[in-house]
Amino acid sequence: MNFIKNSIFKRKPDEDTPEPSTSDCSGVLAVWGSPGSGKTTVAVKLAKHLADHKKNVALVFADMTAPMLHCVCPSSALECDRSLGSILAAAHVTEPLVKNNCVTLKKNPHLILLGLKSGENEYSYPPCDQQQVTELIASLRELTPYVIIDCGSYIASDILSAVSIMEADSVLRLINADAKSASYFDSQLPLVQGNLSDADKLYKVGSNLKPNQAVEQLGGMAFRLPYSYELEEQFLAQDLLADLCLKDGKAFQKEIARISKEVFGV
Ligand SMILES: Nc1ncnc2c1ncn2[C@@H]1O[C@H](COP(=O)(O)OP(=O)(O)OP(=O)(O)O)[C@@H](O)[C@H]1O
Ligand SMILES: [Mg+2]
Repeated sequence: MNFIKNSIFKRKPDEDTPEPSTSDCSGVLAVWGSPGSGKTTVAVKLAKHLADHKKNVALVFADMTAPMLHCVCPSSALECDRSLGSILAAAHVTEPLVKNNCVTLKKNPHLILLGLKSGENEYSYPPCDQQQVTELIASLRELTPYVIIDCGSYIASDILSAVSIMEADSVLRLINADAKSASYFDSQLPLVQGNLSDADKLYKVGSNLKPNQAVEQLGGMAFRLPYSYELEEQFLAQDLLADLCLKDGKAFQKEIARISKEVFGV
């Protein structure tokens, strides 16, 4: 991957960052966090929440090491099998190219998905650089009012996730109540600090929090997503687009609704 650390993690001094409009809550959300913190789960549930409210939303799976498109819902639910790789392989990423290569769902007209196909990896396509990712995000902004990007954790070698975190209007920073998660952010936060488009929109989110865990050690959190057995079962059943009906599932869903209200106003 043609990733040059200093060029990716550096905003150009003359770069014009548009002022976010207070009335317009649409935009791009990057879901970032330590490995296994719940990024994909949260990204899917937020996208489902918006789609359930009849908002058009694009969900991008940036993970190139374990393509997630076919892990979050049954393949039979998808209308087609297309790849994000075909988009990022183009010299220029345009809105029609994105539109022609996103995956639609048979029963959910408000949600489009973008990700690698099963069996693909980052070397299945020619390498992309910052320009293609920036064009992808700009095209998605034109296509749908709401864009959610499920980022990978290895941002130093993952250009799609790194640029998404820096270009997003809001970033969720998922942290588990364990030493590994804290160590991850000690290591990786310096890479992005000072390079986010709007540092005020970086939300620290406790994720997969179990009742027996000492959450105080995490410090201030904007949101706390509880552990849910029902959610864990949905993940195992590759059925994250299903509704949550049990008590612990509903507690998780309630916090997802709070996040959506804060970030998107929906
Ligand atoms: N709130 C929760 N309640 C129960 N299980 C959860 C919760 N959040 C995440 N999990 C579980 O944690 C595991 C990791 O979740 P997920 O794949 O969403 O994390 P991730 O951050 O995307 O991981 P990766 O770094 O591999 O991309 C899954 O088994 C998932 O079911
Ligand atoms: Mg993931």
